[in-house]
Amino acid sequence: MAPAKASRPMLATFASCLLLLQLAIPAVQGARLAPAALGRRALLQSPPSSDIPMAPLDVLQQSLVAANLSAWAYPGTLLTSSWDVENTYTKPAVFQQYATALAAATASLSSHAPTFVQRLSRNLTHPEASARFLYAFVLPTNDAIYVAFRGTDLTGSIFVNAATSTGEDFNSVQTPFSYGGAAAGNVHSGFLLSLTDAAVDSYDSDAYPNSISAYTELVAAIKAAQAAVGASVPIVLTGHSLGAAQATLAGFMLSRDGFSNLRLATFGCPQIGDADWAAAYNATLGSSTMAWWNMADPVVQLPNVDEDPGCDNFGSHSSSSSSCVQAWFTAGSRYRIDTVNSNLRCGQPSGSFAVCDSSSGSTQSCYTDVDWKTAMTVEDHYISNYVAHLQACVTAAGGN
Ligand SMILES: *[C@@H]1O[C@H](CO)[C@@H](O)[C@H](O)[C@H]1NC(C)=O
Ligand SMILES: *[C@@H]1O[C@H](CO)[C@@H](O)[C@H](O)[C@H]1NC(C)=O
Ligand SMILES: *[C@@H]1O[C@H](CO)[C@@H](O)[C@H](O)[C@H]1NC(C)=O
Repeated sequence: MAPAKASRPMLATFASCLLLLQLAIPAVQGARLAPAALGRRALLQSPPSSDIPMAPLDVLQQSLVAANLSAWAYPGTLLTSSWDVENTYTKPAVFQQYATALAAATASLSSHAPTFVQRLSRNLTHPEASARFLYAFVLPTNDAIYVAFRGTDLTGSIFVNAATSTGEDFNSVQTPFSYGGAAAGNVHSGFLLSLTDAAVDSYDSDAYPNSISAYTELVAAIKAAQAAVGASVPIVLTGHSLGAAQATLAGFMLSRDGFSNLRLATFGCPQIGDADWAAAYNATLGSSTMAWWNMADPVVQLPNVDEDPGCDNFGSHSSSSSSCVQAWFTAGSRYRIDTVNSNLRCGQPSGSFAVCDSSSGSTQSCYTDVDWKTAMTVEDHYISNYVAHLQACVTAAGGN
């Protein structure tokens, strides 16, 4: 891992390591919750003032399916050795093993095999020098076309880090975003460019080497899926961590490109943009989005205006040249998993759209109820734990 710059904000450094460490510990599907850990953390803060109403069973079940697909976008959930996982980026034969394992995992959902869209820096020894990474699979089923984006990956000696525009792993300089003829605020340039930049190295066997953007290739894959199962089924975009941010931006672009019946279920999504972006997204897809965040997951706070008063990780902004601005989704799209208090809940908290502005003092309340310095743990970001918690909530709500 590249050494952190001394000036880099502490939380950004901390959590970018979390992003990179995602696969260092093999994901365990269906892992049991650890009551002792929950109890320990419960001592660290007071409970929320009001309980979170459990989401409806169908929302929980749809989210669990999406969380599973987000997990399966990581080869480590399906291949056994980290060496195999590493080679999925460079060795077509190992990639084929992963594709076969994924087809087997999804066989109960679909008779169609998944197709892939991927972009990867070829400079694997120094990924920080050319940091673009997008990996998604498209799975047509009779009920939905699923598009699942992988998060940042760390396997063996290789880490691939896609979150950046400059080569720094969480340098999230914002860039004005206009799509489909209308402005949509300012967004994280690394997340955006991973979708829109055509000049990104492609996987060895990619059919479109360095000629079209990942987004353009994704549109072609979705159209092919629609040809296979019909254009009337919903398009469900999902992803974890970096993949959640890419899914969100891709969903917005698909909407403005005329695709309808779009739905999103994301897990542990970092901050994508400013208040204008959030409002544009909300107007487009807010009512079709389930943005799940574990309240003790530090990555959903990134980039974090409290930890970055100098705005180093934000760059330029629409509202004010001297402050950093970021925004949560509206309450309507924000689903919280409460693992901090002893009674696990998965649902929508009350409260409204929060805009965090570095010029207005402490913004802790913009993020979660949890002080990351004392209460957050690495595990709260793992997709395997989003899956496990949603499974527990489905069971608690009477499903299976
Ligand atoms: C999620 O995946 C696990 C195995 O990884 C499986 O046992 C479970 O049934 C799946 N749940 C859903 C809703 O797909
Ligand atoms: C990879 O990046 C390093 C650091 O910037 C550079 O020295 C090296 O030449 C690059 N390798 C290739 C194959 O581009
Ligand atoms: C989000 O969109 C809904 C309509 O879907 C609207 O009622 C609500 O006011 C919007 N919230 C914000 C903060 O823009």
